[in-house]
Amino acid sequence: MEQNLSPTAEKTNVFVYLIAGVAALAGLLFGYDTGVISGAVLFIKDQFALSSTVEEMVVSAVLVGAVIGAASSGQLSDRFGRRRVLIVTAIIFALGSIGTAMAPTVAVLIAGRIVIGLAIGVASFTAPLYISEISPVHIRGALVSLNQLAITCGIVLSYVVDYSFAGHKDWRWMFALGIVPALILLIGMIVLPSSPRWLMTQNLTEKARKVLKKVRGTTDVQHEIDEISETLGEETGGWKELFQPWLKMPLFIGLVLGLFQQITGINVVIYYAPTIFQFAGFSSAGVAILATAGVGIVNVLMTIVAIRFVDRIGRRPLLAIGLIGMTISLGVLGFAFSLPTLSEELKWIAVGSLMLYVASFAISLGPIFWLIIAEIYPLKIRGRAMSLATMFSWICNLAVAMTFLTLIEKVGRAGTFWVYGGICIVGWFFCYFFVPETKGHSLEEIEEHWHSGKSPRELGR
Ligand code: BGC
Repeated sequence: MEQNLSPTAEKTNVFVYLIAGVAALAGLLFGYDTGVISGAVLFIKDQFALSSTVEEMVVSAVLVGAVIGAASSGQLSDRFGRRRVLIVTAIIFALGSIGTAMAPTVAVLIAGRIVIGLAIGVASFTAPLYISEISPVHIRGALVSLNQLAITCGIVLSYVVDYSFAGHKDWRWMFALGIVPALILLIGMIVLPSSPRWLMTQNLTEKARKVLKKVRGTTDVQHEIDEISETLGEETGGWKELFQPWLKMPLFIGLVLGLFQQITGINVVIYYAPTIFQFAGFSSAGVAILATAGVGIVNVLMTIVAIRFVDRIGRRPLLAIGLIGMTISLGVLGFAFSLPTLSEELKWIAVGSLMLYVASFAISLGPIFWLIIAEIYPLKIRGRAMSLATMFSWICNLAVAMTFLTLIEKVGRAGTFWVYGGICIVGWFFCYFFVPETKGHSLEEIEEHWHSGKSPRELGR
């Protein structure tokens, strides 16, 4: 059932934007700390005379840490609360930034990058989780997607910082600067309130009421409190509940959406954009930098478009449009690379396809994976369920990063893009049949839907 929003509820309190903005700094750190390595590694390699195996370890340490961080922290966020977990994460980000910036040996550097990865793994789902639980229904999609916007800005910022320090080969400063958003996140999260929904799981109803009054800007919050307590009565909490028959479907949806977010190849483009441009026949360093910056900027701008539309046209149409765009662009890229040489026009068509691909990801799987997994799980086990889906998506991220170059060797450049394109088609069907339209539904209504045993597509019908 669509929730009827009162005019007071429609008038959104600015405080809630502030909360979402601060929590989204965790996303900024996610983007920054995953992106910064691409520039830094060039100088680290020279300074420590790294073999290619060790270089790969330096690059992928963060992903390994993220898998571990995501896997281990779901329970903590259910037990100690989203806010406390984000505070600890900010401290780990800060320590990791100092540790990597001062690393005397490559072993310490790798250890430091694993620590940063831990923080990224935790932050990647705890920030959307916290934001979704504090947001009013009608703008929840936009507020949660601020986190994805912050990820994309973090990636661009890391390119800018890498570029600024490249002249002096100063990789230490590249890592050190991560401390600035970490400290702002730390201070912000200390000051901000706990998630009202998590407070309710701890029987702290009066505290939850106080937070809700403040973030909704109204004293009329009884309806929301009642709705949350009703669902709480139906949940037992604990790992066992996660594997109950009524939750199999949302668990499946979260895991598979995480899989598609990664195996459709986004990070190949994010990490290897300059290489792809070289394939297309642009060889100068200037073009490589422009290519990388262009990809990053398109990613940011189209995430803003997603934020504008996610609560208006909904999650499903954006996924459908985005996946079609991704399929077409990968098909064209594959075609361009299947030719022995690229004419001048085809080179630019390849560039355009790459940009279309990033734009299509940015309006669909980019923000919507994180949003959907922050919406579809029952309150008491939300942290655990999200951590599982997140861990799986980080494993897929690692798998794609490790197989891209081998895939090119085995099936060629064109074949590689076609493989990703084929996966997008399967992803489109998966989204069509399985992803529910959560727009306009309270988190509690979504939970009730799973109880009813109806199919995901019937939500709200
Ligand atoms: C994904 C990352 C990706 C980023 C790009 C995120 O949602 O999880 O793997 O690098 O989007 O914008």
